[in-house]
Amino acid sequence: MIPLIKSTFHQEKSTKEKISQFIRKNSHLSMADECAKFEKNFSKYQERKHCVMVNSGSSANLAIIQALLNLGKIKKGDMVGFSALTWSTNVMPLIQLGLTPIPIDIELSTLNVSSRTLLAAIKKYPLRMLFLTNLLGFCDDIDVIQRVCQKRNILLIEDNCESLGTIYKKKKLGNYGYASTFSFYVGHHMSTIEGGAICTDNESLATMLRIVRAHGWDRNLSFVKQKEIRNKFKVNSTFYSRYTFYELGYNFRPTEISGFIGNVQLRYIEKIISRRQANFLRMAIPIYQKTDRYYPIRFEHIERLSNFAVPVVCRSAAIRDELVRRCERVVEIRPIVGGDITNQPFYKKYMGQYAQTFRHSNARMVHERGLYFGNNPQLTKKDMDTIVKIFTR
Ligand SMILES: Cc1ncc(COP(=O)(O)O)c(C=O)c1O
Repeated sequence: MIPLIKSTFHQEKSTKEKISQFIRKNSHLSMADECAKFEKNFSKYQERKHCVMVNSGSSANLAIIQALLNLGKIKKGDMVGFSALTWSTNVMPLIQLGLTPIPIDIELSTLNVSSRTLLAAIKKYPLRMLFLTNLLGFCDDIDVIQRVCQKRNILLIEDNCESLGTIYKKKKLGNYGYASTFSFYVGHHMSTIEGGAICTDNESLATMLRIVRAHGWDRNLSFVKQKEIRNKFKVNSTFYSRYTFYELGYNFRPTEISGFIGNVQLRYIEKIISRRQANFLRMAIPIYQKTDRYYPIRFEHIERLSNFAVPVVCRSAAIRDELVRRCERVVEIRPIVGGDITNQPFYKKYMGQYAQTFRHSNARMVHERGLYFGNNPQLTKKDMDTIVKIFTR
C-alpha cells in the first residue's frame, strides 16, 4: 500500500536522533528560546516581519480570528467569506466566535476561490473579511482578489496551511493578505508533528496574537510592549502584573520540542518543496491529460507549486467509485480536503439557512467526484509509476 504519508520528518532518522539528544540535554521544555528562534527563522523564510508559533494550524486559525476581534478589526455578526472547499477548522472559529460565515464557491479549474466567485458573493453579501484558503498548493487570481478586497475594504486573511512555499507572480502564498496561517502537521509540507504559525507584517496584530496565544496575559511580549500595556491598564504592581489578563485568549503555546524540530526541518524546506514539485509534475501531467475521465486542473500560472497531495476530480461519480475500487490496498486515497464544507453536519447544524443555497456549486461537485493521493518526498519511482498506471488506465 502506498500511504498518504510515509514518514513523520524529512531525514527521519537523524531528526529523531537530534530530538532525543535535545530532550536529554535540556531540562526546560516548555516554550522558550527554540520557539523564539523558529519564529525568527520562519518569518525570514516567509518574508514577513512577524511570526507567532502555536500548537497547530487550527489554533492559528482560531487565534487570528480572536486577535482581530480583540483589536476591533472585525466584530461579532460580521459577514466573513470563506472558500467552500476547505478544512473544518477554517470555518469553525468563525462560527465559534459569533461571525457569520459566507461560503464562496471555487473554480473547478483551480479548486480555489477566484475574483469571479468572490465578486459574485460580494453582490449578495456585504463581506467585512475574507478568510481565503489556498488549497493544496494551488491558487486562482489571488493578486486580483487582493485588489478587490483592498478596494472594498474587505480584510483579507489567508489560510495557507496547505500551500507553504507556493510562489505566484513572484510572491509566496501567505503574503497576499494582512495575515496568514500555517500548519506543521505531519502530513503537511514541513512537520513539527503538530504545530502551526501566524505571519503578518503588522506589529500590533503580532502583539495581540502573543496575548491570545497564552492566557490573555503579557508575559511573552517585549519589555517595551509590556510597559505600554501595563501603563494603559494602570498595572503598577509587580506582584499582580504577571497575573493580569488583558484580553480574551487561550493556551496555544507550542512546546520547546516543537520549536526545536521546526528549526531542524526548516533547513530542508527548499529540498522538500522541490521534490514534491517534481513528483507532482511527474504524476499530474499524464493523469490530467485524461480529460475524458477528469476535469483539467490548471497550474501553469503558478511559478512554484508546493503541493503535498494530488487532487483528481472525475467526470462522474461512477469513475470516482471505480478508482476507489482500483486503489483499494494499493494506493491510499481520500476525499479532497474537507469537501464542500456546507455539506458537513456541523455546518448544517449551525448555518442551515446558508447551506441550502449551495447545492449546485463546484465545491459540491468536487465533494461528490473528487479524491486525492499523497505526494511526499519519499515516494519512489515505482510508487509513482504504480499511481500513474492506476489513474491513466
Ligand atoms: C486548509 C487547512 N486549514 C487548517 C488546517 C488545520 O491544521 P492542523 O491540522 O495543523 O490543525 C488544515 C489541516 O489539514 C487545513 O487543511
